[in-house]
Amino acid sequence: MRRKLLLGNWKMNKTVTEAKVFAEEAKHLGKEARAHKIDMGVCVPYIDLVPVKKIIKNSLIVGAENCHYLEKGAYTGEVSIPMLKDIGISWCIIGHSERREYDNETSEKCNLKILALLKNGMTPVYCCGESLETYEANGTKKFVEEQILKGFANVSAEDASKVVIAYEPIWAIGTGKSASKEIAEDMCAFIRKILAKLYGRRVANKVRILYGGSVKPNNIRDYLLQDNVDGALVGGASLEVESYKELLTNLL
Ligand code: 13P
Repeated sequence: MRRKLLLGNWKMNKTVTEAKVFAEEAKHLGKEARAHKIDMGVCVPYIDLVPVKKIIKNSLIVGAENCHYLEKGAYTGEVSIPMLKDIGISWCIIGHSERREYDNETSEKCNLKILALLKNGMTPVYCCGESLETYEANGTKKFVEEQILKGFANVSAEDASKVVIAYEPIWAIGTGKSASKEIAEDMCAFIRKILAKLYGRRVANKVRILYGGSVKPNNIRDYLLQDNVDGALVGGASLEVESYKELLTNLL
Protein backbone atom coordinates (compact mmCIF):
# COMPACT_ATOMS: atom_id res chain seq x y z
CA MET A 1 0.00 0.00 0.00
CA ARG A 2 1.25 3.44 -0.88
CA ARG A 3 1.09 5.93 1.98
CA LYS A 4 -0.68 9.18 1.21
CA LEU A 5 1.60 12.21 0.95
CA LEU A 6 0.66 15.82 1.47
CA LEU A 7 3.37 18.32 0.59
CA GLY A 8 3.30 22.10 0.65
CA ASN A 9 5.41 24.18 -1.71
CA TRP A 10 5.97 27.69 -0.43
CA LYS A 11 7.72 28.86 -3.60
CA MET A 12 9.28 32.33 -3.02
CA ASN A 13 7.25 33.14 0.07
CA LYS A 14 8.00 33.70 3.75
CA THR A 15 10.86 35.47 5.44
CA VAL A 16 12.63 33.56 8.21
CA THR A 17 10.50 35.45 10.75
CA GLU A 18 7.28 34.39 9.01
CA ALA A 19 8.53 30.84 8.47
CA LYS A 20 9.25 30.40 12.19
CA VAL A 21 5.72 31.49 13.12
CA PHE A 22 4.28 28.92 10.70
CA ALA A 23 6.59 26.18 11.95
CA GLU A 24 5.64 26.75 15.58
CA GLU A 25 1.95 26.54 14.75
CA ALA A 26 2.24 23.57 12.40
CA LYS A 27 4.76 21.37 14.16
CA HIS A 28 2.17 19.19 15.92
CA LEU A 29 0.47 18.24 12.64
CA GLY A 30 2.95 15.51 11.76
CA LYS A 31 1.85 13.33 14.64
CA GLU A 32 -1.79 13.64 13.66
CA ALA A 33 -0.98 12.89 10.02
CA ARG A 34 1.08 9.83 10.91
CA ALA A 35 -1.70 8.50 13.11
CA HIS A 36 -3.79 8.36 9.94
CA LYS A 37 -0.98 6.89 7.84
CA ILE A 38 -0.40 10.15 5.97
CA ASP A 39 3.03 11.67 5.39
CA MET A 40 2.96 15.45 5.52
CA GLY A 41 5.51 18.19 4.96
CA VAL A 42 6.53 21.50 3.45
CA CYS A 43 9.12 22.46 0.87
CA VAL A 44 10.52 25.88 1.66
CA PRO A 45 13.03 28.46 0.36
CA TYR A 46 16.67 27.63 1.14
CA ILE A 47 16.96 30.38 3.71
CA ASP A 48 14.01 29.00 5.70
CA LEU A 49 15.27 25.40 5.82
CA VAL A 50 17.44 25.60 8.95
CA PRO A 51 15.02 27.60 11.15
CA VAL A 52 11.98 25.57 10.05
CA LYS A 53 13.78 22.25 10.52
CA LYS A 54 14.98 23.34 13.95
CA ILE A 55 11.40 23.92 15.09
CA ILE A 56 9.65 21.10 13.23
CA LYS A 57 12.41 18.51 13.77
CA ASN A 58 11.18 15.22 12.34
CA SER A 59 7.50 15.84 12.92
CA LEU A 60 6.83 17.02 9.37
CA ILE A 61 8.94 16.49 6.26
CA VAL A 62 10.95 19.62 5.51
CA GLY A 63 12.18 19.72 1.93
CA ALA A 64 14.02 22.06 -0.44
CA GLU A 65 12.53 23.47 -3.64
CA ASN A 66 15.59 22.95 -5.80
CA CYS A 67 19.25 21.91 -5.72
CA HIS A 68 22.28 21.74 -7.96
CA TYR A 69 23.36 18.35 -9.30
CA LEU A 70 27.09 18.86 -8.69
CA GLU A 71 28.70 18.46 -5.28
CA LYS A 72 30.52 21.76 -5.24
CA GLY A 73 32.30 24.31 -7.39
CA ALA A 74 32.10 27.68 -9.05
CA TYR A 75 28.32 28.00 -9.41
CA THR A 76 27.42 31.32 -7.85
CA GLY A 77 24.08 31.36 -6.11
CA GLU A 78 23.56 27.59 -6.16
CA VAL A 79 23.04 25.13 -3.31
CA SER A 80 24.42 21.59 -3.46
CA ILE A 81 23.01 18.30 -2.23
CA PRO A 82 25.76 17.82 0.42
CA MET A 83 24.81 21.26 1.81
CA LEU A 84 21.18 20.13 2.15
CA LYS A 85 22.20 16.80 3.65
CA ASP A 86 24.39 18.53 6.19
CA ILE A 87 21.39 20.38 7.62
CA GLY A 88 19.26 17.23 7.72
CA ILE A 89 17.23 17.81 4.56
CA SER A 90 16.45 14.70 2.53
CA TRP A 91 13.59 15.78 0.27
CA CYS A 92 13.79 18.11 -2.73
CA ILE A 93 11.38 19.27 -5.43
CA ILE A 94 12.84 18.94 -8.91
CA GLY A 95 11.65 20.46 -12.18
CA HIS A 96 8.77 22.58 -10.96
CA SER A 97 7.11 24.20 -13.97
CA GLU A 98 8.07 27.65 -12.66
CA ARG A 99 11.74 26.63 -12.73
CA ARG A 100 11.29 25.08 -16.17
CA GLU A 101 9.71 28.32 -17.41
CA TYR A 102 11.80 31.01 -15.73
CA ASP A 103 15.12 29.25 -15.13
CA ASN A 104 15.51 27.17 -18.23
CA GLU A 105 15.30 23.91 -16.35
CA THR A 106 15.13 21.05 -18.86
CA SER A 107 14.13 17.44 -18.22
CA GLU A 108 17.76 16.46 -18.95
CA LYS A 109 18.95 18.75 -16.16
CA CYS A 110 16.23 17.42 -13.88
CA ASN A 111 17.50 13.92 -14.61
CA LEU A 112 21.00 14.85 -13.39
CA LYS A 113 19.48 16.25 -10.20
CA ILE A 114 17.31 13.16 -9.66
CA LEU A 115 20.32 10.85 -10.13
CA ALA A 116 22.42 12.92 -7.73
CA LEU A 117 19.69 12.99 -5.07
CA LEU A 118 19.15 9.23 -5.31
CA LYS A 119 22.88 8.62 -5.06
CA ASN A 120 22.76 10.54 -1.79
CA GLY A 121 19.82 8.57 -0.44
CA MET A 122 17.44 11.50 -0.81
CA THR A 123 13.88 11.75 -2.16
CA PRO A 124 13.29 13.72 -5.36
CA VAL A 125 9.79 15.06 -5.98
CA TYR A 126 9.83 15.25 -9.76
CA CYS A 127 7.29 17.64 -11.27
CA CYS A 128 5.75 17.26 -14.70
CA GLY A 129 2.81 18.82 -16.47
CA GLU A 130 1.73 20.56 -19.63
CA SER A 131 0.87 24.13 -20.58
CA LEU A 132 -2.64 25.26 -21.52
CA GLU A 133 -1.58 25.39 -25.15
CA THR A 134 -0.42 21.76 -25.10
CA TYR A 135 -3.55 20.72 -23.20
CA GLU A 136 -5.84 22.40 -25.72
CA ALA A 137 -3.94 20.82 -28.60
CA ASN A 138 -4.46 17.35 -27.05
CA GLY A 139 -0.74 17.00 -26.56
CA THR A 140 -0.73 16.33 -22.82
CA LYS A 141 0.15 12.64 -22.76
CA LYS A 142 2.93 12.86 -25.32
CA PHE A 143 4.42 15.86 -23.50
CA VAL A 144 4.26 14.31 -20.03
CA GLU A 145 5.56 10.96 -21.27
CA GLU A 146 8.64 12.70 -22.63
CA GLN A 147 9.19 14.49 -19.31
CA ILE A 148 8.96 11.18 -17.44
CA LEU A 149 11.20 9.26 -19.84
CA LYS A 150 13.88 11.96 -19.77
CA GLY A 151 13.62 12.48 -16.02
CA PHE A 152 14.05 8.77 -15.30
CA ALA A 153 16.92 8.13 -17.75
CA ASN A 154 19.51 5.85 -16.10
CA VAL A 155 17.47 5.55 -12.92
CA SER A 156 17.57 1.90 -11.78
CA ALA A 157 14.41 -0.03 -10.94
CA GLU A 158 15.45 -0.10 -7.29
CA ASP A 159 15.85 3.68 -7.18
CA ALA A 160 12.77 4.43 -9.31
CA SER A 161 10.43 3.39 -6.51
CA LYS A 162 12.02 6.04 -4.26
CA VAL A 163 11.09 8.92 -6.55
CA VAL A 164 7.88 10.84 -5.93
CA ILE A 165 6.21 12.28 -9.03
CA ALA A 166 3.94 15.33 -9.02
CA TYR A 167 1.63 15.85 -11.97
CA GLU A 168 0.92 19.57 -12.10
CA PRO A 169 -0.81 20.93 -15.21
CA ILE A 170 0.53 24.47 -15.62
CA TRP A 171 -2.93 25.80 -16.45
CA ALA A 172 -4.11 24.76 -12.99
CA ILE A 173 -1.25 26.27 -10.97
CA GLY A 174 -2.17 29.36 -9.00
CA THR A 175 -5.15 29.96 -11.28
CA GLY A 176 -7.90 28.63 -9.03
CA LYS A 177 -8.84 26.50 -12.06
CA SER A 178 -8.02 23.00 -10.83
CA ALA A 179 -8.03 19.94 -13.07
CA SER A 180 -11.04 17.70 -12.50
CA LYS A 181 -10.51 14.63 -10.35
CA GLU A 182 -11.06 12.54 -13.49
CA ILE A 183 -8.21 14.32 -15.30
CA ALA A 184 -5.95 13.95 -12.27
CA GLU A 185 -6.71 10.23 -12.01
CA ASP A 186 -6.33 9.66 -15.74
CA MET A 187 -2.93 11.38 -15.80
CA CYS A 188 -1.62 9.71 -12.64
CA ALA A 189 -2.72 6.31 -14.02
CA PHE A 190 -1.04 7.15 -17.32
CA ILE A 191 2.21 8.04 -15.56
CA ARG A 192 2.04 4.77 -13.61
CA LYS A 193 1.62 2.92 -16.89
CA ILE A 194 4.78 4.53 -18.27
CA LEU A 195 6.64 3.46 -15.12
CA ALA A 196 5.28 -0.09 -15.49
CA LYS A 197 6.63 -0.21 -19.04
CA LEU A 198 10.02 0.99 -17.83
CA TYR A 199 10.34 -0.97 -14.59
CA GLY A 200 7.48 -3.48 -14.35
CA ARG A 201 4.22 -3.32 -12.42
CA ARG A 202 5.72 -4.12 -9.03
CA VAL A 203 7.96 -1.03 -9.07
CA ALA A 204 5.29 1.16 -10.71
CA ASN A 205 2.84 0.27 -7.96
CA LYS A 206 5.28 1.49 -5.33
CA VAL A 207 5.80 4.98 -6.77
CA ARG A 208 3.80 7.77 -5.18
CA ILE A 209 2.21 10.09 -7.72
CA LEU A 210 0.76 13.39 -6.52
CA TYR A 211 -1.59 15.86 -8.14
CA GLY A 212 -0.88 19.59 -7.88
CA GLY A 213 -2.65 22.70 -9.16
CA SER A 214 -5.14 24.76 -7.12
CA VAL A 215 -5.56 22.04 -4.49
CA LYS A 216 -7.53 23.53 -1.61
CA PRO A 217 -9.02 22.19 1.62
CA ASN A 218 -12.40 21.90 -0.10
CA ASN A 219 -11.24 19.76 -3.04
CA ILE A 220 -8.31 17.73 -1.67
CA ARG A 221 -10.49 14.82 -0.64
CA ASP A 222 -11.85 14.35 -4.17
CA TYR A 223 -8.35 13.96 -5.54
CA LEU A 224 -7.06 11.64 -2.88
CA LEU A 225 -10.01 9.29 -3.26
CA GLN A 226 -8.77 8.43 -6.75
CA ASP A 227 -6.96 5.09 -7.10
CA ASN A 228 -3.80 6.46 -8.63
CA VAL A 229 -3.56 9.83 -6.87
CA ASP A 230 -1.39 9.25 -3.82
CA GLY A 231 -1.34 12.78 -2.50
CA ALA A 232 -1.06 16.45 -3.33
CA LEU A 233 1.57 19.12 -3.90
CA VAL A 234 0.00 22.34 -2.69
CA GLY A 235 1.11 25.92 -3.30
CA GLY A 236 -1.17 28.74 -2.16
CA ALA A 237 -3.16 26.73 0.38
CA SER A 238 0.02 25.67 2.18
CA LEU A 239 0.99 29.24 3.07
CA GLU A 240 -1.47 29.91 5.89
CA VAL A 241 -1.37 27.52 8.83
CA GLU A 242 -5.15 27.38 8.98
CA SER A 243 -5.64 26.15 5.42
CA TYR A 244 -2.58 23.90 5.66
CA LYS A 245 -4.15 22.28 8.71
CA GLU A 246 -7.50 21.97 6.95
CA LEU A 247 -5.85 20.14 4.05
CA LEU A 248 -5.14 17.39 6.54
CA THR A 249 -8.29 17.50 8.62
CA ASN A 250 -10.50 17.40 5.52
CA LEU A 251 -8.84 14.13 4.58
CA LEU A 252 -9.56 12.39 7.85
P1 13P B 1 -1.17 26.21 -6.28
O1 13P B 1 -1.65 25.18 -5.27
O2 13P B 1 -1.01 27.57 -5.70
O3 13P B 1 -1.99 26.17 -7.54
O4 13P B 1 0.31 25.77 -6.71
C1 13P B 1 0.54 24.47 -7.10
C2 13P B 1 2.00 24.23 -7.20
O5 13P B 1 2.64 24.76 -8.08
C3 13P B 1 2.63 23.37 -6.20
O6 13P B 1 3.92 23.04 -6.57
